[in-house]
Amino acid sequence: MNLILLGPPGAGKGTQSRRLSDNLKVPQISTGDLLRAARGNRTTLGIKAESYMTAGQLVPDNLVTEMIRERLKQADCGHGYILDGFPRTLAQAEALDRMIAAESGKAAQIDRVVNIAVDREEVIQRLSGRRQCRKCTENYHARFHPPKTVGVCDRCGGELFQRDDDREDVIRQRLEVYEKQTQPLIAYYEKMGLLRNVRGTGSIEEIFGAILKAVS
Ligand code: AP5
Repeated sequence: MNLILLGPPGAGKGTQSRRLSDNLKVPQISTGDLLRAARGNRTTLGIKAESYMTAGQLVPDNLVTEMIRERLKQADCGHGYILDGFPRTLAQAEALDRMIAAESGKAAQIDRVVNIAVDREEVIQRLSGRRQCRKCTENYHARFHPPKTVGVCDRCGGELFQRDDDREDVIRQRLEVYEKQTQPLIAYYEKMGLLRNVRGTGSIEEIFGAILKAVS
């Protein structure tokens, strides 16, 4: 099954797609995590992406699309994948359509697009308290989803850190970018008959149940 999770920053795309990946046994592909890894490894892509990410702007379409094209060629995507954070612009969505058309058989068509809806104030609260695992990228929240031991990942024992784009001024910038550049994708996928809307507030488990229902 090939899925896309849409939603504003902090909607819970990473949290839910990791659970979906465990449940459906297909990889979660997060462009944010891939770009952060590239930054950490000081690759050419990571160095180019850095200033955009720190400022809360989108990394240029051609860089992200090329990164996804390479990732989708990997063997673990043969039985499906969950795209988390891609596409994020109409140009990326169209590039994905072309990629799928060109490589049909390997990367079959998108089956469902789940849009997780959460309002601005909730996003700001969630992101300003988020902590992420350096090793496995699992997300926690100081209040809403704390780890069992402060600063340590429950899943893998890795160290938790605060992302440099989770500062309130950058969060507001990311929300503006989302509204201008990513929100139009809701209508794009609705027109294609692929969209399912899920309310993104409530417990992580309740939302996960609603997403499973939406994709089944
Ligand atoms: P990316 O890493 O994709 O960031 P984002 O889309 O802004 O999404 P987030 O990771 O902030 O939020 P999320 O929806 O995954 O929420 P999460 O599950 O963590 O992108 C970062 C940057 O990379 C971009 O700004 C851009 O520069 C670049 N980039 C990435 N993709 C790109 C692309 N395609 N094109 C161009 N540039 C790109 O949850 C958030 C918090 O809430 C956590 O603390 C979590 O524990 C908590 N939480 C989750 N669910 C609940 C709940 N139900 N109740 C309470 N708290 C909850």
